[in-house]
Amino acid sequence: MNIAVVGTGYVGLVTGVTLSEIGHHVTCVDIDEEKVAKIKMGISPIYEPGLDELMQKNMDANRLDFTTNHQDAFKSADVIYIAVGTPEKEDGSADLSFVKNVAVQIAETVTNDVIVVTKSTVPVGTNDRLRDLLNKNLDNNVKIEVVSNPEFLREGSAIKDSFEGDRIVIGSDSEEAAATLEKINEPFGVPIYKTDIRSAEMIKYASNAFLATKISFINEIANICDRVGANVEDVAKGMGQDKRIGPQFLNAGIGYGGSCFPKDTKALIQIAGNVEYDFKLLKGVVDVNKQQQSLLLDKLNERVGSIEGKKIAVLGLAFKPNTDDMREAASIIVTEKLIEQGAEVVAYDRIAMENAKTILNSNVEYADRLEDAIGDSDAALILTEWDEIKKINLDIFKAMKYPLVIDGRNVFSLDQMKECGVEYHSVGRPA
Ligand code: UGA
Repeated sequence: MNIAVVGTGYVGLVTGVTLSEIGHHVTCVDIDEEKVAKIKMGISPIYEPGLDELMQKNMDANRLDFTTNHQDAFKSADVIYIAVGTPEKEDGSADLSFVKNVAVQIAETVTNDVIVVTKSTVPVGTNDRLRDLLNKNLDNNVKIEVVSNPEFLREGSAIKDSFEGDRIVIGSDSEEAAATLEKINEPFGVPIYKTDIRSAEMIKYASNAFLATKISFINEIANICDRVGANVEDVAKGMGQDKRIGPQFLNAGIGYGGSCFPKDTKALIQIAGNVEYDFKLLKGVVDVNKQQQSLLLDKLNERVGSIEGKKIAVLGLAFKPNTDDMREAASIIVTEKLIEQGAEVVAYDRIAMENAKTILNSNVEYADRLEDAIGDSDAALILTEWDEIKKINLDIFKAMKYPLVIDGRNVFSLDQMKECGVEYHSVGRPA
């Protein structure tokens, strides 16, 4: 199959690389010339374990190519994947202008029948409207089918997830197009679930909203545990043994971030609102998440009183480990509020630090090493559960003026911290 993928962001790039890995000939197209030039030199624009190697391997095998020229990419394509961004608009709805622009480009360019596959997360009904837009702008007498094929990969484990995912969802009103997509995806060895277009679109939002709900739910349970002296880790373990609940996504902490959950939950509230449905539960999930991001500051304030003039080490900046993605990371709010309250902030994240420098308050200082960030600080806050932090020699905390660690990701065991004499506060576990 000749496949074109539009957009070389996280979704597009991983899609293109993995489709080439299973044997398809893939051309990825992006308007960003600098980015495409770098990729062609083997430099991936994102930090994603395993991606660079796979990208280079398939470029060398001439199965994977990159261009800024959409005409070149679409010319001989049997299937075109749309994987451009759908950023959040001010009102929380998804901005579809990039998707629509690509649809018009496709309609004006293709000379053969083609299947257009939407990977980008788009509101329910978008693919139907996309089909109309494509047909309205067609320059040639060709047939275009539309398929919704939402993305379920997680940043940081996207390559692994591509080959070990739980399902691939194919939504189409054309049996023929659905069968083609099934054939394309078969080599991944992941179960395929076929449905209609609107249900496929909804599966994506409902899945992310449900996972976000699990997180906000366990975070509220953790906050109650804090007050009643229970341990949220044990509670989650006990709950998770019920197969109907399941053990995953019950890690309490400082809330969810990233480019997906915050955006998709708000978009689903909008989608519901557009059809006069008030999605009360999901609104609560979003509110709880916002509150949770400030939890460590509340704990810090409670413990030390005023933080003015105090030196605070912030360990981990990315929204989660194994990524350099800073989008909607709790570190943005936490560092902003620390600075606002007059603290001196020294931050460390081996991978996300360069991105962080362009996003965080300019008064944040950065340390080159984890131990330098901790140094003689008054308190250390843990925001991301990087392995490097999990494996730290706990004696390093003893160099602090007074060893006070406030952990937003429940990285260390309570016994471990007690033993080494560090005052340790975490989320939903007794201090
Ligand atoms: C999420 C979904 O997990 C993917 O299935 C989906 O494809 C993706 O969004 C998307 O829509 O593109 P991702 O944002 O990469 O993936 O990251 P997750 O691993 O799901 O974590 C999201 C956030 O939830 C992180 O901030 C993480 O720290 C937090 N989280 C996760 C918790 O606080 N507790 C948990 O138990 C799990």
